[in-house]
Amino acid sequence: MSQFRIKFMPENRVIEADQGTSLLNAAAKAGIMIKSGCGGKGTCGACKVDVLSGDPLVNGTGNLTPEQLAKGIRLACKTLVQGDMTIEVPPESRLQEHQVLMGDVQKGLLQESEHDLLDKFGRHSLAIKQRISLSIPTLTENSSDWARLSIELRRVLKTGDKPIHMPLSILKHLPESLRKANWDVSITMTDTEAGLTITHIEQGNDVPPYGLAIDIGTTTVVVYLINLLTGEIVDQQGTYNKQAKYGDDVITRIVYAVENEQNLIEIRDAVVETVNGLLDKILARQSLSNMNIASAMVAGNTTMTQLFLGVDPRYIRLEPYIPTMTNVPSFPAREIGLHMLPEAMVHCYPSVASYVGGDIVAGTLVTDLANGEDIILFIDIGTNGEIVLGNQDWLVACACSAGPSFEGGGITFGMRAMPGAIERIIIDPETLDVSLKVINNQTPVGICGSGLVDCIAKLLSAGIIDRAGNFQLGHKSGSQRLRATTDDKEFVLAWAYQAGGEKDVVITENDVKNVIRAKGAIYAGIRSLLNMVAVDIEMISRIVIAGGFGNYLNIHDSVQIGLLPDLEPERFEFIGNASVKGARLALLSQNAWREAEELGRKMTYVELSVGVTYMDEYMAALFLPHTDMSLFPSFQ
Ligand code: FES
Repeated sequence: MSQFRIKFMPENRVIEADQGTSLLNAAAKAGIMIKSGCGGKGTCGACKVDVLSGDPLVNGTGNLTPEQLAKGIRLACKTLVQGDMTIEVPPESRLQEHQVLMGDVQKGLLQESEHDLLDKFGRHSLAIKQRISLSIPTLTENSSDWARLSIELRRVLKTGDKPIHMPLSILKHLPESLRKANWDVSITMTDTEAGLTITHIEQGNDVPPYGLAIDIGTTTVVVYLINLLTGEIVDQQGTYNKQAKYGDDVITRIVYAVENEQNLIEIRDAVVETVNGLLDKILARQSLSNMNIASAMVAGNTTMTQLFLGVDPRYIRLEPYIPTMTNVPSFPAREIGLHMLPEAMVHCYPSVASYVGGDIVAGTLVTDLANGEDIILFIDIGTNGEIVLGNQDWLVACACSAGPSFEGGGITFGMRAMPGAIERIIIDPETLDVSLKVINNQTPVGICGSGLVDCIAKLLSAGIIDRAGNFQLGHKSGSQRLRATTDDKEFVLAWAYQAGGEKDVVITENDVKNVIRAKGAIYAGIRSLLNMVAVDIEMISRIVIAGGFGNYLNIHDSVQIGLLPDLEPERFEFIGNASVKGARLALLSQNAWREAEELGRKMTYVELSVGVTYMDEYMAALFLPHTDMSLFPSFQ
């Protein structure tokens, strides 16, 4: 097959690509991640690139306008290599690293509550390392190498009857390992209730064992490197999930994965490659090797967990939505090719159901939701809103489909929280003049999830929209910012000259309706759970919000638009990336890990689509803040 040189600008990066490769895949090969909302079907228009030179085969142009086509703009997913080319990938088509939510920790810094939780559960990590000196065998002291080693380990570790296992791959090299080290060896082991399993034998040293806490999100992947002796987060790195090229959401990826066996392998490899890429960067920075990594704990939603393991996910999306497993057996890293000790164990958080996964169980653990009488509500807001409600006696969970609005999808100028995104808005109710706060103080190019919530609250306060989200074109100000277009109504947030582009940055009536549907879905999920267990909103003592969007949410605005319940601001708490925090906790504490497994079993999953209550609640929530204003006394 012919190969061609593809140059990507402005990086000036050149790769070789086979004839027929899509520019989307060629860019991924060059390490440039292009947005691909529809998974390469040519329908979302997210993957626009500029063909600067070359004559590719164009298989589809989607909704590109004749002007865009004349300028050389193409869809990367529908444009195929058939000669040398130069491509420019514009910023708006790129997934960018700095959008990844690392958690709210800085290096080595943890919230007080996390230390408390670790103290509460007790530190006993899932892998240990022990240095021992063995006596040299003689004609009279002639026990086998394995007996010599295991007896000394038992003595030093005081293991009692706990079994010690040695995989064949380690046993094969035992004689050489001991003698080369002159009987002074460091032994790395997996430590679980079932026993100790030796994963590495090396020359005696005092380098601590390290573990990985891994959050596999649909959009992003985050890895923490943890010192298993001290519990310290030594380093961390996050990036986009390389599966993004197969689609933005779990459903599109499932559809791709189940098309044939090769696709499933490909999509599994994409996420393993993502984790390995992050790990390699961390190891290089810390001057460590993969042989120092003794354990890994993974938290992800149910689909991400199954895809990470290469387990067929098709029944997750088909009624009655059955996952292959909720509890995942731990397995050696070599089975999926993670860059760590080949025999070191990889553990995955249990799921509850197809749409309440290990990331939510991890969040529930970190929230310490199941350990007191107080009723706590945990919400993870993303494309899916996952909600857990309960206390030490009972736990209920549900998932509601909020759609992609809060992550920038389906909104005319929607974008993720990255430089150039509008995150705060002030609107003068008399003149409708606008002041904006833009991430990194850049020129505004779009609006992120928290900006949208803020914007809709301000549109409502200024009388630009009514409680149903309808634009009020006859606003008393007579401002030109409020206007009708041929197919919609819109409000100008930034004029084209301010945005440095050709178009005004606007929010349309359709955008507002999309956000109302998204917030309505989440609020209806909360209300449905409350109704189910006959708990009044006032009885909730804490509302813990997780997820990238939640981290920057303005509580007042969120309540004003009816996304969150009308409670005192003091009851709300942001937890950041709860998934990776939960992974760290379980990695460092066997008790926490047991509790996590127990939580997964204890949670009652409520399938909202089968109850009538949810639809009623949803319809009632399609107003700002709600049809029943008695639920929002602060805004009556
Ligand atoms: Fe190319 Fe959607 S149009 S990925």
